[in-house]
Amino acid sequence: MKELEEFEFMGDNPQMHQAVLIPGDGIGPEVTAAVRRVLEAASVPVVWEEHQAGLAAVQAGRPLLAEETIDAIRHHRVALKGPCTTPVGEGFTSINVQLRKKLNLFAAVRPVRSLDGVPTRFENVDLVIIRENTEGLYSGVENQVTDGVVMSMKVATQVACERIARWAFRFANRRRRRRITVFHKANIMKVTDGLFLRCARKVHEQDYPNLEYQELIIDAGCMKLVQDPSQFDVLLLENLYGDVVSDLCAGLVGGLGVVPGANFGDDLAVFEAVHGSAPDIAGKGLANPLALLMSGVMMLNYLAETRSDPRCQQAADRIKAAYNRALAEGQKTRDLGGTLSTDAFADAVIARLGD
Ligand code: NAI
Repeated sequence: MKELEEFEFMGDNPQMHQAVLIPGDGIGPEVTAAVRRVLEAASVPVVWEEHQAGLAAVQAGRPLLAEETIDAIRHHRVALKGPCTTPVGEGFTSINVQLRKKLNLFAAVRPVRSLDGVPTRFENVDLVIIRENTEGLYSGVENQVTDGVVMSMKVATQVACERIARWAFRFANRRRRRRITVFHKANIMKVTDGLFLRCARKVHEQDYPNLEYQELIIDAGCMKLVQDPSQFDVLLLENLYGDVVSDLCAGLVGGLGVVPGANFGDDLAVFEAVHGSAPDIAGKGLANPLALLMSGVMMLNYLAETRSDPRCQQAADRIKAAYNRALAEGQKTRDLGGTLSTDAFADAVIARLGD
């Protein structure tokens, strides 16, 4: 890990970290602007380099995902990203998938927690989803075999399966989590999911026998999740399962407006909410910016840890306390049963930042 002084700082302002900001499509620009306002009000030591990606980039006369955007993330090694729209059943390959592949962001982490002031069927949900981010059916390797016959290829490599297993166990160990559960379908996909399981077992047995390890066939796992999520701690899943189970788990704690996420590579990270571009509410000021704000807090924690910068930790703690207080005092957007607009919720958080 690098120390603070090893990092490249802004010429005029030597105390600032540089990070890439991608507003994205649909509700992306609205929630990104709201989050940016909160972070600025909390005086986070970050200067943004804004890049467009996805449909927003095309509308600005740029490529969907410009090389210079990729290069900027490689250079600054941290980014906060809004959602990007992917056309259904036709059109271009997902910008999100491309970004994760090009930057080798192999580990997606999504903490799912109950929040005070957001009543749901379950209290005290506290689990973390770790999703393999680069292969599986999500690779999008599809073709037409012949007329009326199409095929999609599920790719699993030992390197990627072992890498995500090692990452997940290390994460669980460092965060003092007690158990990892792998959801799989190795009864049917014996070769690909079988490899995923063998790699997880190997890492557990060789390096982390102190942690509990459990395997569940995904259909039964989902049933258990909605019956009693408190029995789960860290969930380890291949790409597509991780995608689906993330939204399911969001539903346990209040919906997509409250679940943040991060995509990690070896020495860089892109932070983004689990939700998509929500075209049904885009441009109406109805989107909940909290999931992206929480992703911003994860980004600050990451900067604090990787760059040994306590200011980032202080800002993260301050913002977290402010949004928790806002929720507890009933300040909520419509998706959580409240009446606040995107901007009004950001204002409510800013008003509670304290000194
Ligand atoms: P979605 O997550 O955009 O929306 C699902 C439902 O949740 C909608 O009813 C929406 O209004 C609601 N919702 C989502 N975020 C919300 C927020 N912050 N506040 C309040 N309500 C919220 O999923 P959908 O409709 O399946 O996908 C829309 C587009 O987003 C697609 O093009 C998809 O490919 C893309 N997408 C992009 C992602 C990314 O950039 N990481 C992730 C997921 C989807």
